[in-house]
Amino acid sequence: MQSLVMLQSKEKQRYLPMKKGCDCSMAKALFTPLTIKNVTLKNRIVMSPMCMYSCFDEDGKVTDFHLTHYTSRAVGQVGLVIVEATAVTKQGRISVHDLGIWSDEHIDGLKKLVELNHAYGSKIGIQLGHAGRKADIPEAIIAPSAIAFPGMKTPEAMTVEAIHDVVDAFRQAARRAKWAGFDIVEIHAAHGYLINQFLSPLTNQRDDDYGGDRDRRYRLLSEVIEAVKTEFDGPLFVRISANDYIEGGNTPEDYVYYAKKMKSQGVDLIDCSSGAVVPASIDAFPGYQVPYADKIRNEAGIMTGAVGLILNAVQAEEILKNGRADVVLLARELLRDPYWPYRAAKELRTTIEAPVQYKRGWDA
Ligand SMILES: Cc1cc2nc3c(=O)[nH]c(=O)nc-3n(C[C@H](O)[C@H](O)[C@H](O)COP(=O)(O)O)c2cc1C
Repeated sequence: MQSLVMLQSKEKQRYLPMKKGCDCSMAKALFTPLTIKNVTLKNRIVMSPMCMYSCFDEDGKVTDFHLTHYTSRAVGQVGLVIVEATAVTKQGRISVHDLGIWSDEHIDGLKKLVELNHAYGSKIGIQLGHAGRKADIPEAIIAPSAIAFPGMKTPEAMTVEAIHDVVDAFRQAARRAKWAGFDIVEIHAAHGYLINQFLSPLTNQRDDDYGGDRDRRYRLLSEVIEAVKTEFDGPLFVRISANDYIEGGNTPEDYVYYAKKMKSQGVDLIDCSSGAVVPASIDAFPGYQVPYADKIRNEAGIMTGAVGLILNAVQAEEILKNGRADVVLLARELLRDPYWPYRAAKELRTTIEAPVQYKRGWDA
């Protein structure tokens, strides 16, 4: 494949001599492969999980929309696609239109999704989630404590038996994810959903072994990690909300503590988001969550993913080259442009492979 530099006219090249000591061909961190356990990502660009609310039959099954939507990003050369929050129980859906993995009947559709993404060169992971008190469904909902999220219905405080059932649902979901062929599993412990509700003192007011101090609040996540590991031996990510942004809530320091625990349990990468456990005012600006990925990576000694208003390749390259994260996750930018990695390569003055069918687009 021709390099973009070569696409410039000879004339232009003459007037743009390379400065001595400046090597434009120097490896770009964004396009450097990353191997985690048995899986190699061809670059550091990850499609962040995004609910598409597109199971219109309310059965949680993969539709043609999902096949097209995710596979487009694989064609677009994303290194890793992470499928949206997928419910481990029916009661754990964020909405009735969520994807599900609560029954073996979900495996076939998910398998097809995996195979298509693999065919176009992307690795694919799945985010396993339970919405807890943020489930917007007709049935009763559950949470660590009977405290409603503002504007939503009041959940039932979970019995210990109900907690064990949820842990087992994550285990079963991991078994199905493995059967479907996913390369990576991500546990959703962020954005105020069930596991986050246990981690945060703002939503967990239990006085048993699952509430109280940090270790007890961490217990559900710890058990979910162990349960997932019994079925899935590939790379394991956990998405966290590294800051509750409210007095008395979890802080980035708390998450360094949790991250060390996750590391000791064999978690491979922590995907660092923030907020949404309770309503809070958040000053969101480009890269505003990168300091969390940086802090956790460098204080807990574990790989991290940076996410949140990462908009262009130079910004992404800076994050990676300065050792602030190991991968970058993009959400809305990949909704706007499923082929963002090509644009990023152009911005960084490098080239990337495209499916052979598109080669003509690169020919002079
Ligand atoms: C439509 C939409 C759906 C989302 N669904 C999820 C989800 O299923 N799981 C999750 O962890 N985050 C979800 N998010 C958050 C994104 O993954 C991401 O963290 C956030 O949008 C910030 O990244 P961005 O600035 O690149 O969009 C969603 C965001 C959007 C816009």
